[in-house]
Amino acid sequence: MASANLRFARGSIEHVDKIYRCFVDCGWAYSKGEIYRFVSLASNVSVCWDDCEDKVTGVGLVTSFSADNGILDLVGMMISHPDYRRRGIAKHIFADLTATSRKQGHDLGLIATDIGAKVYEKQDFTVPPQAMRKKYQHNSVDLHQRLREYDLNLNGRLFEESDLETVLKLDRRAFGADRRAVLSAMASGTEDGTTSARVITYLDESGCATGFAVMSYTHSSMVLGPVVANSPDETVGMMAELLQQRDGRDENENKSVSMFLSGQESSLEPVLQALGFEHLATLTAMELKNLHSPSSALLDAGGLAATYVCCANPAWG
Ligand SMILES: CC(C)(COP(=O)(O)OP(=O)(O)OC[C@H]1O[C@@H](n2cnc3c(N)ncnc32)[C@H](O)[C@@H]1OP(=O)(O)O)[C@@H](O)C(=O)NCCC(=O)NCCS
Repeated sequence: MASANLRFARGSIEHVDKIYRCFVDCGWAYSKGEIYRFVSLASNVSVCWDDCEDKVTGVGLVTSFSADNGILDLVGMMISHPDYRRRGIAKHIFADLTATSRKQGHDLGLIATDIGAKVYEKQDFTVPPQAMRKKYQHNSVDLHQRLREYDLNLNGRLFEESDLETVLKLDRRAFGADRRAVLSAMASGTEDGTTSARVITYLDESGCATGFAVMSYTHSSMVLGPVVANSPDETVGMMAELLQQRDGRDENENKSVSMFLSGQESSLEPVLQALGFEHLATLTAMELKNLHSPSSALLDAGGLAATYVCCANPAWG
């Protein structure tokens, strides 16, 4: 325990306001609606409280996905309040979350920032090959114009409810585990005040999904991913269609567009750079050492590594 004032407890959606406050103080630009969505879809949330100040000083959560050989738990949204760092809060939260997953026999993985990786390395987490996630961002309003000049062969359609099962099947092959809950939440496009999403689906003649892309509209940016596509051009085509289809709210017009490329995807990088995207950060996928049945989601960046071009976000793989 770092200090007499600090207490660790399970978190829930009742604590979203206080967790959101902690994210604001950390400078992480998630809206309350986004935090609500992360917490409500999590299987385990661990929170550190300063009871004297009645505030959340650290948080981390686990989202669970069922894979062929068991459950994959991804740890995400790990932060400590800047006034409380280097006092063991993250270490304690991480140990608590991973102990629960290990007890349940789940595989464990995560996608780390550079500083986060320093915490997890000490807890037996290692970096598998092909484990990078490159974050690219475009801040300029001329992206729409640039995409118009790009030679696109657009044949996707906006997601319909009847696409869900075929999209989930494709995503499972690409990601390596079932993301029904998070993809359904994204595809529903439910407004929670600040977050909505659009999904575009490419279907073959028999109605099977051959590709799909999700664009989430957060209060600060538009995030493209997950994307399963067969070529860089198809990815850019999906992006163009989704930007044209954005929900019509003017405030989205000037938002940046960002995406996380999965470890094996490099052919998209020159295309993104030509469009004016910048490489902002490189995150690292990590997993627990000595897993008996390591999940393909993190080890191989997806079973269809050549076509799985864009990840969802660090908490959802
Ligand atoms: C990463 C973060 C959660 C660590 O929180 P914390 O409560 O300060 O971490 P702890 O005090 O539990 O540190 C545990 C160990 O991690 C390592 N560590 C933590 N912060 C570090 C830093 N800035 N530089 C080097 N090592 C660091 C140390 O080895 C530390 O052990 P020590 O204090 O005995 O040396 C916090 O810095 C943070 O919120 N950063 C911004 C958000 C972020 O990047 N989150 C990670 C997402 S994957």
